[in-house]
Formats: sequence, C-alpha cells, structure tokens
Amino acid sequence: MKIAVLPGDGIGPEVTREAVRVIEALHLPGLEMADAPVGGAAYKQHGHPLPAATLDLARGSDAILFGAVGDPDCDSLERALRPEQAILGLRRELTLFANLRPARMFAGLEDASGLKPEIARAIDLVIVRELNGDVYFGEKGMRTTADGRREGYDVMSYAEDEVRRIAHVAFRAAQGRAKRVCSVDKANVLETSQLWRDVVIETAREYPDVALEHMYVDNAAMQLVRNPGQFDVVVTGNLFGDILSDQASMCVGSIGMLASASLGERQTAFGTFGLYEPIHGSAPDIAGKGLANPMATILSAAMLLRHSLGLEGQAARIEAAVGRALADGIRGGDLGGQHGTAEIGDAVLARL
Ligand code: IPM
Ligand code: MG
Repeated sequence: MKIAVLPGDGIGPEVTREAVRVIEALHLPGLEMADAPVGGAAYKQHGHPLPAATLDLARGSDAILFGAVGDPDCDSLERALRPEQAILGLRRELTLFANLRPARMFAGLEDASGLKPEIARAIDLVIVRELNGDVYFGEKGMRTTADGRREGYDVMSYAEDEVRRIAHVAFRAAQGRAKRVCSVDKANVLETSQLWRDVVIETAREYPDVALEHMYVDNAAMQLVRNPGQFDVVVTGNLFGDILSDQASMCVGSIGMLASASLGERQTAFGTFGLYEPIHGSAPDIAGKGLANPMATILSAAMLLRHSLGLEGQAARIEAAVGRALADGIRGGDLGGQHGTAEIGDAVLARL
C-alpha cells in the first residue's frame, strides 16, 4: 500500500503531519508513505506548482493525502503557475471527478455552529461535487471588446457523460445512506443546468429505490441554513459544490472539520484510487504557528483508509477517536477552543 503525501502550503504541512502520525499509529503492515512538494512550495523549489515528479508519485500510489495549496507570494504569477493549479491539475490529470464532502454534526459541537443547536443537530449530509468540468475547466481568458473595454470570460459547460458519471456516484452513495438525492442546479437560467437536470432524471431511472428532487442553487443555499436536516446526498456541479461545501462546513461548526475524498474510476488492489484533503485552504495568516485544527485532515485520512485501502474498521476507529476528543472538550481555535495543532493530534492519538 502506497500513500503519496503532498503537504503543500501554509498550514498544509502542519495539519498533514498530524494525519500522518495517526496513520502511522495504526502500524499497517506493508504501508509506505512518500512526500513530494506541491503548490507554492513546489513553485519555489522547482518552478512549477505541480512538478512532473510529484504527479508521477501521485499516479504511482494507491492514494494521495493532500494538505492545502495557496500562497499570497504567488498571487501575481501567471495563472498556470499559481499554487491552485496543482490541485486542479491533480484532479484533472488523475480523472478524479467525484468529490465527496460529508458534513455531519459531531455531538457537543452544536455551540460552534452558526445555526441554532436544534437545527444544527440534524445535519448528516454529503455533498457530491463534480470536479472535472464546469467553469473551472472551460475556455477562459481576457479580451478587449469592440468598443475597447476589458472583458474576462469563463465558459460553463457540461457534457452528458460527465453529468451521468457523477449522478451514478450520487445515487450509489444514497443507496448506502437515507436513499435521497437532491440535485442542485440553476436550470431556470442556465442551459448547462438544463442538461444537468435532464441527465440526472434519466440516470435516476436506474435507481428506483432512491428519491430524487431538484433544487435551484440559490434556494439550496437558503435551505442549507434554514433546514439542513432535510438533505441526505446533494449532487451538484463544480462551482456550486465549491460554494455550498464551504457553507455546509460552518453549519457543522467550522471549516476546520470537513474532510473530502476525490475519486475516479480507477481501482487499486485495495479499493478506489483517490485524493483526500481537508476542504479548508492554506490559511497563510496562521501558518507555521501550530494553531491550525488538524481534524479535517485526520478525518480525510480516515476516508482514505475507507475508500482507497479497504480498511473500514480502521477508518471508523479514527472517526470515533476524533469524536471522543471533541466530546472531551478538545477544540481548535476555529471552534472557539485553545488547543494547538500537535495537542489535537496527541489527543486523537491517545483516544485511538
Ligand atoms: C476547494 C478549493 C479549491 C477549489 C481551490 C483551492 C482551487 O476551494 O477544494 O474547495 O476551488 O476547488
Ligand atoms: Mg473551496
């Protein structure tokens, strides 16, 4: 079993370190982990945010544990050299098109949510975000209009096969949960969304046991704070999924708590090849201070064990240890607590 560890920028290295300690503590026989630079860190060392050697290491592994990318020093570089291109490049090059972002309320964290406790307590949903298409990867550029104004553009499009494969992921996920899918789009305005909706409806015929509903993205954003308990599986495109998953994170307490898995179709000897990362960014303002909450990365490591290494029991152990640490009052600054990065890692390890 090979895990590529790509810590990246900002708080990426410190949160990844704690997740690696948790994996090591399981003493999994035959497990190898290897590090490589990515993002701004890779640009500074090698002149590119996703060096060929990093991509090769990722491709040759069973799973990738990813920290975060983003570095203010790099914000004025041409877009192709910016840190964010590393994660977008990995998703695209490795055809990791299905992004699972589970959000559920840990007992005792209700006070950290921006929502009323009785509303927050009901949250147990997973956002299935498409990751290889949409405005993220369409034609984009800057041009000058005929009358001399600067204009930026990003083309939004989805082909039917791209929608179908993510819809299948959502329906299958729902079969293992409460059997409800809510497809989020903007079909009242966008042609891309009309096709999205049509294809999701076609695909649903293969899943008669799953209830399907459709919601416009503006309404979904509203419902997510009004009554988030209504959602089981939410399936949506790349841009809407990016936004709604940050919003969902605050509903369960903090963006420092949300893990994610990015999966494709490639199978390894143990499970599905995938990349695992916290949904938060590099948080340059607190980087290197030992203040970041590593729980989202530790929970991402649990997802890695579950989906890519076929180790459900070990994944559940890690999640239970995080739950116990929270129940015992271990809280990062993001949750209004005082515990530092390594302290939180120690607390999880002790409960493992
Ligand atoms: C995320 C992030 C990325 C995205 C950025 C860093 C490119 O916000 O994973 O949600 O927009 O997908
Ligand atoms: Mg995001």
